[in-house]
Amino acid sequence: MKESDIRFTKFLVLVNAGVPALLLAWDAWHHQLGANPVNFAILTTGMLTLVFLMLTLLVTPLRKITGWNWLIFYRRTLGLYAFFYACAHFSIFFALDRSFSVSSTLTEMVRRKYLIIGSLGLLSMVPLAVTSTNGMLKRMGANRWHALHRLVYVAAVCGVIHYYMQVKADVRQPLAFAGVLTVLLGYRVVTRQNKTAQPAASRAKIWSGPLRVARIVQETPEVRTFRFTAPDGGPLPFQHQPGQYLVISPVIGGRKVNRPYTISSSPTKPDYCEITVKREENGRVSRHLHDTLREGDTLNISAPTGRFIFDGTQAKSIVLIAGGVGITPLMAIARYLTDKNWKGDIYFAYAAKTPGDIIFRKELDDLKARFPNLHAHVTLSRAEDTDWTGHKGRVSAEFLMKCIPELPARLVYICGPDAMMAMTVQVLKDLGVPASQIKLEEFIAAKKAELNAMDARTCVSAPDVLAPNDGTGPKLKFSRSGKSVALAPDKPLLEIAEEAGVEIDFECRSGICGRCKTRLLGGCVTMETQDALDDDDKSKNIILMCQARATEPVTVEA
Ligand SMILES: Cc1cc2nc3c(=O)[nH]c(=O)nc-3n(C[C@H](O)[C@H](O)[C@H](O)COP(=O)(O)OP(=O)(O)OC[C@H]3O[C@@H](n4cnc5c(N)ncnc54)[C@H](O)[C@@H]3O)c2cc1C
Ligand code: HEM
Ligand code: FES
Repeated sequence: MKESDIRFTKFLVLVNAGVPALLLAWDAWHHQLGANPVNFAILTTGMLTLVFLMLTLLVTPLRKITGWNWLIFYRRTLGLYAFFYACAHFSIFFALDRSFSVSSTLTEMVRRKYLIIGSLGLLSMVPLAVTSTNGMLKRMGANRWHALHRLVYVAAVCGVIHYYMQVKADVRQPLAFAGVLTVLLGYRVVTRQNKTAQPAASRAKIWSGPLRVARIVQETPEVRTFRFTAPDGGPLPFQHQPGQYLVISPVIGGRKVNRPYTISSSPTKPDYCEITVKREENGRVSRHLHDTLREGDTLNISAPTGRFIFDGTQAKSIVLIAGGVGITPLMAIARYLTDKNWKGDIYFAYAAKTPGDIIFRKELDDLKARFPNLHAHVTLSRAEDTDWTGHKGRVSAEFLMKCIPELPARLVYICGPDAMMAMTVQVLKDLGVPASQIKLEEFIAAKKAELNAMDARTCVSAPDVLAPNDGTGPKLKFSRSGKSVALAPDKPLLEIAEEAGVEIDFECRSGICGRCKTRLLGGCVTMETQDALDDDDKSKNIILMCQARATEPVTVEA
């Protein structure tokens, strides 16, 4: 859908949702509300509240099932109308039925219990209305905002119960609302369960071991692709999804160093995986890969991991925006989708410096020629004095609008340098793409903490929080779940926690992503890598559970 269409349909929803209120006001003005006008107005506004609450709740499932992402643009208007009608419903009751008398309203509430339930529904909508602006969303952060906005479920449940309780004889209509609400909430429970089941599935898939360098290809002057195979041939010992990364652990200068690299090849090639690496002038690992690694060498690898995945099931079309070497996950996705003959539109917008820096240039051209649903466009920031006739400049609103129709309704994946990603996100937001439709992959450069071996030991002196010594050896205690289990000095605390059934989030298992951050409450741990910890984390005794090992009793906040 075009932006002008979205603006227009948003306006239509805004106006149409207000029509019942106008009709009610019109009929009231002309004394056409029947024998009991106040009751008629209360019943009508109550019904409208419930209908708008249901419509608001319908947006997410309908959007997920149909792939019509543009539906999201109307959710806020529908929700605010639900609140508006609820306020009108209460105000008419308070003003015209109870003559503005607080004591009479309260007495009535005690007498008719369904009014208390209705009031709970209305009250739970107030924080939603107050925080419905983009500014509040930004201020609160997406997680807290989404958590708060679950209050809409409370409002809808209270509304339905309130309706059911006040109906005297025929309960079919409130039961119909209850049925619809059960389906809408049930859908959310099921999709949530599937989501939380995912980490458990990926847990089984993390593999670690040596792979052989089968081929090295020079892509551009600064970028090389390294193809890895199983040391003894045959299929790779792990399966991955398009967009995921692996962690390589070469030993440089006598120390093991971990770095994540996206798997740029497609999961449809089960016998190899490739990484495509830019040589950083002072980079430890990228220079090692470029300057030292040779075909036939082996390298220790953990794979796969990462949640920046697109396999064609998440949406009916996809926009891939890449900058520089950030093309790797997006190329993996494009390769996978074309290998699978995916029917959706793939819009690929790529920014590089000069024509010689365009990674996978020939392959992109070939794919574009063979797959009409792949629309690839390149823009160059340093095209002067070259024979480049294509688009010039950075990723701008003009470039994106030229390459991608109906942008606000599409799912967008971005990977590139930090500044390019920040600018692109801003441009997308200005063009009307909701934040929830933008997925980012950051190639955060590793911090230098690992170089300082002294930093690797973290201790908290708090003997009273440790598990008592019962003669069975040192224990790892989890303060929240109250569990205490035996420590195995050779195992990271994350593994011990998993065996004990204590849920700790993780992703890379290599000390890079920071997902397993947990507070150390007592005892000492050592960490081989702590790239994901900054000084603030360290001052708060935060440790990485995937890296932390202990030989003495410890307690962690989990
Ligand atoms: C999920 C993920 C996926 C990734 N995928 C890819 C990929 O597909 N391809 C890819 O090329 N990279 C990728 N990266 C980045 C990669 O992991 C490394 O961060 C990158 O290769 C640099 O590592 P390095 O050891 O060479 O550099 P580091 O030694 O870690 O240095 C990082 C940066 O600091 C600079 N630097 C180093 N030492 C100094 C110094 N003394 N003074 C000033 N500057 C210094 C370096 O020039 C470099 O720019 C990915 C990162 C993540 C998180
Ligand atoms: C989420 C908030 C609410 C919702 C969704 C809601 C919904 C409804 C619905 C659907 C009806 C019945 C309409 C019909 O029969 O056609 C109704 C009736 C009514 N509601 Fe609410 N309501 C809410 C809050 C409140 C509040 C806060 C009050 C007052 C304290 C209130 C007072 C009433 C009254 C007095 C009736 C009419 C009962 C009767 O005379 O038959 N409601 N409401
Ligand atoms: S899981 Fe990534 S840092 Fe521990």
